[in-house]
Amino acid sequence: MPFPIPDRETATHRDSPDDPSAMNSEKIAPTKDPFMYRQMMFDRRDNDAYYTPDWCTEALIAKVTFRGPLWEPAAGKGRMAAVLRRAGYDVVESDLDRQNDPLDFLQTTTMLGATLSIVTNPPYHIAEKFVRHALDLALPGGGMVAMLLRHEFDCAKKRRYLFERYQFFQKLTLTTRPRWIENTDNSPRHNFAWFVWNGLHDGPATLGWLP
Ligand SMILES: C[S@@+](CC[C@H](N)C(=O)[O-])C[C@H]1O[C@@H](n2cnc3c(N)ncnc32)[C@H](O)[C@@H]1O
Repeated sequence: MPFPIPDRETATHRDSPDDPSAMNSEKIAPTKDPFMYRQMMFDRRDNDAYYTPDWCTEALIAKVTFRGPLWEPAAGKGRMAAVLRRAGYDVVESDLDRQNDPLDFLQTTTMLGATLSIVTNPPYHIAEKFVRHALDLALPGGGMVAMLLRHEFDCAKKRRYLFERYQFFQKLTLTTRPRWIENTDNSPRHNFAWFVWNGLHDGPATLGWLP
C-alpha cells in the first residue's frame, strides 16, 4: 500500500486549530499574537501589518489568470501589488494606513477606478467582513476575488454563506507555510490557502495545491 493510513491519534495534526471560528474573528484581542508561531508570543502588529512573502503571490498568479485591472485594497507597503505588476497586471492599491491617502476598504461602495478584480491578504481580525465586502463589490461586475486566508477559514459554520451564496471558484492550498515575521528561526505555525471567487463561474469549486 503506497500511502499507509495513520490511526486517529497520529493523524491529528499537531497544529490543529483550537477553534477555527475564532481564528480570524473579531473575538481575538489585537494585542498579542498567539498564532503566528508555536511557542513565542509576539506583539501583534497594528492593523495586522504582516506583509505577504512574494512566493505566495507568485504561486497564485502562476495558476490563476485574473480579469484586470486589479485592486489591492489592503496593500500595506505594496509588496503584493508589486508582484502583480511584475506579472503584467495593472494594479490600483489602497490601504487604511497611508499617511496622505488613507482608504477604509469597508467604507467603499464601488470598485476603485476601473478595477475589475480584487486580490489581497486581508487584516485577519476583520477577514470575514473584508471577504464579504470584496465579493459584493467585485462579483456583480463579472470580476474575481482572491484572498489569502488561514487554510481552515472555510471550516466555520458562520462563514458557509461565503462559499454557498457567492460563486466560489477555487481553493488553492499553500503546501509551504508562509513566514510572516522575517529574520526569525521559528517554524511558521499556520497553514494558508488562496480562496478564489469568480463572478463568471457557474459550477462547483475545484481544489489545487501550490508550492
Ligand atoms: C495583513 S496586511 C497585508 C498587506 C499586503 N496585502 C501584503 O500582503 O503585503 C493587512 C493590511 O490591511 C490594512 N488594513 C487594515 N484595516 C483596513 C481597512 N479597514 N481598510 C483598508 N486597509 C486596512 C493594514 O493597514 C495592513 O496594511
